[in-house]
Amino acid sequence: MDVFIGEWGNLLLRWAHMIVGIGWIGTSFYFIALDYSLNQQERKSPGVFGTAWQVHGGGFYHVEKFTVAPPNLPPHLHWFKWEAYLTWVTGFGLLIIQYYFHASAYLIDPAVMPLEPWQAIAISIASLLVGWFIYDGLCRFFGDRTVPLAASVFLLILLAAVLYTKVFSGRGSFIHVGAFIGTIMAFNVFVTIIPGQRIMVGQLLRGEEPEAKYGKVAKQRSLHNNYLTLPVLLMMVSPHYPFLSAHPHAWMVVALILIVGGLFRHILNRIDIGEPWEKYGWAAPMAAFALICAIFVTAPRQMADTGPVISDSEVLAMTAKHCTMCHARRPTHESFKEPPKNVTLETLADLKRYSQLIMIQTVRNKAMPLGNQTHMTDEEREQLGRWLRAH
Ligand code: HEC
Repeated sequence: MDVFIGEWGNLLLRWAHMIVGIGWIGTSFYFIALDYSLNQQERKSPGVFGTAWQVHGGGFYHVEKFTVAPPNLPPHLHWFKWEAYLTWVTGFGLLIIQYYFHASAYLIDPAVMPLEPWQAIAISIASLLVGWFIYDGLCRFFGDRTVPLAASVFLLILLAAVLYTKVFSGRGSFIHVGAFIGTIMAFNVFVTIIPGQRIMVGQLLRGEEPEAKYGKVAKQRSLHNNYLTLPVLLMMVSPHYPFLSAHPHAWMVVALILIVGGLFRHILNRIDIGEPWEKYGWAAPMAAFALICAIFVTAPRQMADTGPVISDSEVLAMTAKHCTMCHARRPTHESFKEPPKNVTLETLADLKRYSQLIMIQTVRNKAMPLGNQTHMTDEEREQLGRWLRAH
């Protein structure tokens, strides 16, 4: 029952996370596109930086952007912040119920580093916080020098990826790269963008001239968030694709995903501005090249295929040792009341039925047994692979 309630909790939190996440990314895409489409030629009211005409849902909209701020504070001001805060809160909740409560299944791989659950959780929390402070420090240090700032944030994320792949399981490390970037993005809104806007509103209310620097910093951080959205989305679904984190230097895959996602976002933003293709077209072959490199890096390596094929009873003994506490009609593992993904591995017929998937998950990507709590060796994986190929 408790496992069942836990599953529902997990599902509802995940649903909420997707809903608010879509809301947040939607506003990020919309406002950056709006910003870029602002027309500065049109006759404008005083203080207006640019205007835009848009048509949607059966009506026409005329939007004006004031920089630094309108002369008087309007009575109803809509703040865009809750979608960002709630995305982080629901995401951290998911991290807790999936990766902290079941740390030894999802977060830890004893073959990578034999951590106790509390140690893994401490590394997780500390790294997310430290990551934000370093990122914030880099932004303050470089100010509006975009190129060195972008390069150093890229390196910071790579450093985090190297650290995570050295301490966590494959899926644990990739989800943490996503959480690391997501934390930076949400804290950008919570610590920098919204407080800056509040100061400007306060200055307006006191009849003072609002300071432009707060608006500029907010713009810079929200542009960072915009460029990070696409890589972070891929990181969040990466646990479903264990081949991404199977390479011994999987941080290279993270680097390539950052490049592909960032460049693709750049192309979309330039299209929104209406720039000619010649100006940003260079980004397309670069993104394609990075994607091909990612496919190449993650391609399965040829395994040593020599040696005797083990007997049927040996292979059943192997799955009894490493798999059936979870993949049985009645699992005995404390975290599962039903076989995960309905995959049962109790009979030879089961093994033949799922042979393709077992090959991918256990022999190639080493994603199974989950968390490798039973210390399955590479030799056992090769033996299993040879048996599967022979049948
Ligand atoms: C601690 C529990 C646990 C153990 C032990 C375990 N698995 Fe799994 N297995 C899971 C979970 C959870 C999933 C679902 C993963 C997901 O949702 O991404 C899964 C999924 C799978 C899948 C389906 C993947 C898909 O894409 O549909 C296969 C195949 C599989 N495991 C094979 C194995 C084999 C072979 C072993 C033993 C060598 C094993 N597992 C040991 C928990 C376990």
